[in-house]
Amino acid sequence: MDKMRIRGGKTLSGTVQASGSKNAALPILISSLLSEGACNFSRVPNLQDIRTTLKLLEQMGVKVQNDLQKNRVCLEAKTVSQFEAPYDLVRTMRASVVVLGPLLARFGKAKVSLPGGCAIGARPINYHLTGLEKLGAQIELEGGYVIASAKRLQGARVAFEFPSVGATENVMMAAALAKGESILENCAREPEIIDLAGALRAMGAEIEGEGTEEIRIQGKDKLGGCDYPIMGDRIEAGTFLAGALMTGGAVRVEGLASTHLEAVLVKFEEAGAKIVRGDQFIELQSQGRAKALDITTQPFPGFPTDMQAQFMAIMAVADGASVVTETIFENRFMHVPELARLGADITVRGNTAMIRGQAKLIGAPLMATDLRASASLILGGLAAQGETVVNRIYHLDRGYERMEEKLSTLGADIERIS
Ligand code: EPZ
Repeated sequence: MDKMRIRGGKTLSGTVQASGSKNAALPILISSLLSEGACNFSRVPNLQDIRTTLKLLEQMGVKVQNDLQKNRVCLEAKTVSQFEAPYDLVRTMRASVVVLGPLLARFGKAKVSLPGGCAIGARPINYHLTGLEKLGAQIELEGGYVIASAKRLQGARVAFEFPSVGATENVMMAAALAKGESILENCAREPEIIDLAGALRAMGAEIEGEGTEEIRIQGKDKLGGCDYPIMGDRIEAGTFLAGALMTGGAVRVEGLASTHLEAVLVKFEEAGAKIVRGDQFIELQSQGRAKALDITTQPFPGFPTDMQAQFMAIMAVADGASVVTETIFENRFMHVPELARLGADITVRGNTAMIRGQAKLIGAPLMATDLRASASLILGGLAAQGETVVNRIYHLDRGYERMEEKLSTLGADIERIS
């Protein structure tokens, strides 16, 4: 199993390109199931989760032209013959549950494994199922699977109990081929939802309001092919900017809109960093040791839970005491005991962590537990004195494309040990 070795204390400086967004690419690739034409996607990140998604689609009968080396994929769902997402695939990548909406809407049937829990929380899919039932789907749970069927989905009003990203994506895709109008309320407003709506519109869907709480969709009888570039990855970008702050450097990330990360940029400024917001770039210039601050994770446009672990690493070396409150996932502090191995002083009470900033961290062997936790350990290693080895970086590879190469171009002393 690959590990990452980091010799800390190097200042990160320079420019890096953001990869395509994992969390936008996953539902967008899956939305090709709705289309009767060729869907050409560019800027698709070459990540484990993307490869798992292509395998899932191929198993269903989708023709896959995989050119991920060039971040390109062409998908043609003309000959879909399997309407099942098996346990073995769904348990490795729970986002595959969003095949439910497109399969139901286009083929009237779907069998999808329940994802089960993961390291960061129970993560049920009740909002997905309730929303699809509102569009007329018959849904049963049997043997750990969701068995769903529908003659033709009917447009309807769906009010989500919570602005769930996955549920909004699943129901939005289903409504694109439903009969009549659907009005989705209390929707997730994340930029990834906007990007998915953009891809669906490129296929001929009629959607408005994405990025707001209310999305209106006029269902179509069929959708065509498209050429669509995936948006830049805001969480990857935020991770590099955090590295600049923790190492006293200056980093510019190109290829994403700064508006996608505003809640995070405001916190970087509160920590004392200088931020330059460009149309398609963000720059962070450290102004010295970070100041302590408080963070509460919330749905977009609030502070993203996917940046919580990285900010905890910043606060571990900040000047003063900080408080982090995690409101989205019930078990997203797995990085705490690992950061403590570097010398961080963190106390957890329920969904709140108190971090007393330390003047320095010392390198140590660490264990990654989930995607964003592994990013925070890499950041901790970059700021620590001496050598850090992060084990089980397959977690990192799920969401960061060639991270060690990008960090090396910014001056980090980091290498992958296979
Ligand atoms: C997406 O997960 C992202 N994943 C997550 O990123 C991200 O943390 C999350 O949104 C929140 O921003 C992808 O886009 C692939 P939710 P998702 O449905 O869709 C509860 C990363 O690090 N809930 O908005 O699963 C749920 O348990 C990953 O890249 C229900 O109770 O998130 C959670 O507590 C991790 N019932 C909360 O809502 C449901 O039916 C938010 O979940 C659905 C969700």
